[in-house]
Amino acid sequence: MLKIPRRLHPTFSLPLLVLLLTVLVTCADNSGQTVAQGKILFDEHCSACHRSQGQGGIGLPLNVPEFINNVDDFYLKASIQRGRPGRIMPSFDDLNTNEINTIVSYMRSWTGKPGKSYPATTISADIGSGKKNVYTLLRRLPWYPW
Ligand code: HEC
Repeated sequence: MLKIPRRLHPTFSLPLLVLLLTVLVTCADNSGQTVAQGKILFDEHCSACHRSQGQGGIGLPLNVPEFINNVDDFYLKASIQRGRPGRIMPSFDDLNTNEINTIVSYMRSWTGKPGKSYPATTISADIGSGKKNVYTLLRRLPWYPW
């Protein structure tokens, strides 16, 4: 006669399976939720200048893979928090860390890539020629008017 096991192997016990599924669903749900919340915050604070998908308007286009995939989270967070004094982009020092992280999660969802990470090494440079190089570089970007 066929022997029907009374209990499943302990590894596959039902409570454990339920727990595992709950954890998985919660994780998946959380990241989706974070991105959705980030979009709400982005629409509220950023879209007037950068448009709702970051296509750019008064503010630079941000939803450009060459840009977004090559900057690290620190750069984005610092840009949001400090703004660009004297260059229209306001500082958002009234947004808390959690809100800024959430906005960055939304921005990362545009390409689905985590962005680069750069080692925090100290470099020394000549400020004068550094500035000249930066301006030369900026003038080559299509969205700079000069
Ligand atoms: C009032 C318009 C305005 C608003 C609102 C605004 N930005 Fe900007 N943003 C700009 C402008 C203009 C620049 C370019 C600044 C410059 O010339 O250096 C910029 C630059 C940036 C940069 C740097 C881009 C680069 O190439 O280095 C990031 C990142 C950015 N904005 C993100 C945001 C986010 C996120 C928000 C919302 C929390 C936001 N901005 C809100 C106008 C705005």
